[in-house]
Amino acid sequence: MKLAVVILAAGRGERMNSPLPKVLHGIFDKPMLQCVIDSASGLKPSKIVIVVGKNYGEIKDAINKSPHPPFIKGGRGGITKGKQSSLSFVIQEKPNGTGDALVRAKSALGGLKDFIGTILVLNGDVPLITSETLKKFLSLHLRGKNDISLISFAAANPASYGRILRDRNSRINSIVEDKDATEAQRKINEVNSGVYAIKSGALALLKEIPLNIAKGEYYLTDIIGIAGNKGYKINAYCIGSEDEMMGVNTIPELMKARKIFRERLADAWIKKGVIFFDHDSVFISDSVVIGNNTTIYPDVCLEGRTEIGRGCTIYPNVRIVDSVIKDGVVVKDSTVIEGSVIRAKAVVGPFAHIRPGCDIGSEAKIGNFVEVKKSVLGGGTKASHLSYLGNASIGKGVNIGAGTITCNYDGKKKSRTTIEDGAFIGSDTQLIAPVRVGRGAYIGAGSTITKCVPAMSLSVSRVEQKNIEGWARKKFKIQSSKFKVKKKGNK
Ligand code: UD1
Ligand code: CA
Repeated sequence: MKLAVVILAAGRGERMNSPLPKVLHGIFDKPMLQCVIDSASGLKPSKIVIVVGKNYGEIKDAINKSPHPPFIKGGRGGITKGKQSSLSFVIQEKPNGTGDALVRAKSALGGLKDFIGTILVLNGDVPLITSETLKKFLSLHLRGKNDISLISFAAANPASYGRILRDRNSRINSIVEDKDATEAQRKINEVNSGVYAIKSGALALLKEIPLNIAKGEYYLTDIIGIAGNKGYKINAYCIGSEDEMMGVNTIPELMKARKIFRERLADAWIKKGVIFFDHDSVFISDSVVIGNNTTIYPDVCLEGRTEIGRGCTIYPNVRIVDSVIKDGVVVKDSTVIEGSVIRAKAVVGPFAHIRPGCDIGSEAKIGNFVEVKKSVLGGGTKASHLSYLGNASIGKGVNIGAGTITCNYDGKKKSRTTIEDGAFIGSDTQLIAPVRVGRGAYIGAGSTITKCVPAMSLSVSRVEQKNIEGWARKKFKIQSSKFKVKKKGNK
């Protein structure tokens, strides 16, 4: 079967009361539209056509940025999402309704022009829909040899959806939008999800959709009644759950969708042996992988293409983005890790910032207020307090004293600092890059290192200490009247 997907995303989204296009509001780290694209990609369609409005550029940019940057080296490759299918964009200049949006996709170059096969139509504001449900739906559509099929579901509050009207034999007749429905029809709780499968031959019916005078729009939903009257085979499959099929039109609905998404992800990981203290406060992207026996404290965000190994502990207020955390790692409170690999049994934090491009060796220790950027640290290396390590290659078993800084930027370019295995960098050292500290070398505390330090040597660069005997006593005498200690009772 040849399959094309059309995602309708050109609506005004007025009910959001937001300058951001509705479909770009994020469920977590992904725009709603990207969630729909990802689920559609799971079907491996030959193309995905997105109908966008005037804000075309903004939407295209956001979708090109998402999903996250290419996955960094060192991962286990457990990412579940498949490759994104080829995307094309079609413009609907004016939001003249969902029916008109599909007409644009049908007639435009890059859209469905000359396409023969099945067209799956999705709304861009149904972010929780899964590939599994779409697959099931498509197989029902094909097995039923239908011209047009749709997914319906039972809604606890059907007010914002089109209602499914069925005849005496329970066959779908047509869809009526809430605004146009009678009191009796409004009581129907089987609603239209906005997911349709259409044989390319049936797209000809689009031109018969009348203008809905009250709304000034062409409703795609009208195609059902038109097709039924003309003897086309139509069917509505009530296979969706309200949680999965919900359309997001307002900010409260967006909040609800986020909550459902969060619970869905946390529940799946709980079943796989991940331990949460308060899973309601933890955000996990659907592209994240977590090993069993890992403990996650409250207020943790795991974003993008992150992999967490087995037996890790992630303490509160931690944010990890596009990173690989190997087995047995401890990430202490209020730490941010981005685009990096943390190898087995390393300890990072509290209050550490691992910026993109780092590879922190096994059993290494990155402590309080340490920032690391584009640096490799070997196994067992320690930077326990108050340091900046940027553009550095640091070997195994190195000790980085408190307050060490790699001065990697001269105002024009960045240079590298290399510290070989077993070196000891005394506290408050500045390493002016480019510079190399050889194997096992020692740097005296408070040094400013501008030249390479040979292996196994000691390097100290600081003004020699002078002690002036009696200086403080003299100074104290001069000032003693000022700082006289008042006795109790003295006024
Ligand atoms: C639509 C359906 C409704 C269904 C509901 C499911 C119609 C007329 N109604 O209502 O039966 O129950 O979805 O969630 O189709 N869009 C365009 N161009 C436009 C208008 C809309 O591309 O001119 C896009 C929007 O960006 C959105 C999607 O189509 O992603 C649906 O539009 P929306 O206005 O949200 O329709 P609903 O009122 O939710
Ligand atoms: Ca909607």
